Amino acid sequence: MALATAEPQKIDKIQTGLQQVVADTYSLLGQTHHCHWNVEGPNFFALHEAFEQQYNDLFQASDEIAERLRALDGYVEGGLQTLAKRAGFKEIATDASANEMVGALLDMHKKAVEDIAETRDHAADAGDKETEDLMIARVQFHEKTIWMLKSYLKG
Ligand SMILES: [Fe+2]
Repeated sequence: MALATAEPQKIDKIQTGLQQVVADTYSLLGQTHHCHWNVEGPNFFALHEAFEQQYNDLFQASDEIAERLRALDGYVEGGLQTLAKRAGFKEIATDASANEMVGALLDMHKKAVEDIAETRDHAADAGDKETEDLMIARVQFHEKTIWMLKSYLKG
């Protein structure tokens, strides 16, 4: 069992990583929701729907990731400003075009994959299979979304 045997420094790395992943996920959720509200143009219906599916996934995932951090005895940073600052994403303009929105979200998903993969590897190093499993599932979601957003931009 990971918690009983892992070195404290290894647990620290997982906690810090999860903190980053919560921030990325919650910030991306906010930005995706913002795009859901404001997207316009001939692809309105498709993007409005796709963004809704994405922010619903991100909302549920942020809760699951945060609660994994609590299970590892870490506290979860909160407050929108704190989360946004830690994520470090540039805000998408309210009047951004559909393609600008998709492009900006794409970059955020790519950054999320990097942070999640790092946390996955810290979890693997500590023998924390539960966090590793959760991070693997999150990489899969973001990579699938990256594929979809990239495909949209090829149109
Ligand atoms: Fe809505």
